[in-house]
Amino acid sequence: MSTITIVGAGSWGSGLSLILADNKNLVKIYDLDKDLIKEINSSHTNERYLPGSKLPNTIVGYTDLKSALEGSEVVLTVVPTKVMRQALKSVNEALDHEVVFVNASKGIEPVSFKRVSEIVFEEIAPEKIKGFVALTGPSHAEEVIKRQLTVVSSASDDLELAKFVQVLFNNDEYFRVYTLNDLIGAELGSSLKNIIALAAGILNGLGYGDNAKAALITRGLAEMRRLAVKAGAKEETLFGLTGIGDLIVTATSLHSRNYQAGLKIGSGKNLQETLASMTMVVEGVRSCEAAYQFAKELHVEMPITFAVYDVLFNQREPKDAIKELMQRNLKSE
Ligand SMILES: NC(=O)c1ccc[n+]([C@@H]2O[C@H](COP(=O)([O-])OP(=O)(O)OC[C@H]3O[C@@H](n4cnc5c(N)ncnc54)[C@H](O)[C@@H]3O)[C@@H](O)[C@H]2O)c1
Repeated sequence: MSTITIVGAGSWGSGLSLILADNKNLVKIYDLDKDLIKEINSSHTNERYLPGSKLPNTIVGYTDLKSALEGSEVVLTVVPTKVMRQALKSVNEALDHEVVFVNASKGIEPVSFKRVSEIVFEEIAPEKIKGFVALTGPSHAEEVIKRQLTVVSSASDDLELAKFVQVLFNNDEYFRVYTLNDLIGAELGSSLKNIIALAAGILNGLGYGDNAKAALITRGLAEMRRLAVKAGAKEETLFGLTGIGDLIVTATSLHSRNYQAGLKIGSGKNLQETLASMTMVVEGVRSCEAAYQFAKELHVEMPITFAVYDVLFNQREPKDAIKELMQRNLKSE
């Protein structure tokens, strides 16, 4: 049994808290949202993010970060990547001992192109980090909270640590965890796929069908792979759970908020209207901005990502962006 502090009690933080509690760990969950923590402690529910679900009553919610981190061996971060740096600064201030950092958020920081692991090592004092693991793969909180079968990867440059986190989260009944020794590939794959999920929603919003979606997923994976490999990932990682696996689940499911956001944009809403209508974080928007800048810097061709960027940030009509993609120079696959 381990003591784990989860930072972020939204849909995925709550989903992961269920697994850790089912595995008989001591689970402390922290969030800035006082009403949410009150609800978790009193009725053991999270109606805003996971309506109709029940959390184990062994999970204890905190609004005081110092108390949440007391006695903890593992800190699991599950906040939108937009606020990750700020959240980590607060953790660093409140933490007075060494812990393993596990991250389950998915995204890349615009301008710096930093992955979450890099942000963690920048913001947390070295004597407080035992190591870093990314827990990622095809997983919707809406299914995990119902204990539906899910398989993800525990990725780290330190294989022993990846194994520790594998055992911590693995549940024989519904949550299987593999280890993966390619942190760059895991973090980039699971962030870049959100851009393709936005594109999949846009296609459906415009009324295109399965042929278009299959082509998008296949060609989307090709450009995800090009960028990730240029940035140092192993090519085979993009064909695993954190690459194609996560891409499939996000680009084909109504649970995906990136797909949902794309659907609204394809149906004629602009980015501001779309984001204002979403209750949960849409990571693909920021990751698209970061990937666009990163691809330019590394001279990597990413036509779909560039088209999504134009639609999101340059008010390009989705239909015109698709026309341009279809009219690119003919070439071999
Ligand atoms: N929802 C899923 O099924 C799912 C699955 C896999 C990965 N993810 C990833 O997990 C991350 C979080 O997604 P989510 O769906 O849980 O988001 P969410 O919008 O449901 O919840 C985010 C939570 O973070 C809290 N928060 C914000 N700033 C904070 C801070 N400084 N300290 C503590 N808490 C803070 C918010 O109050 C909110 O409760 C995203 O990167 C997402 O891509 C989500």
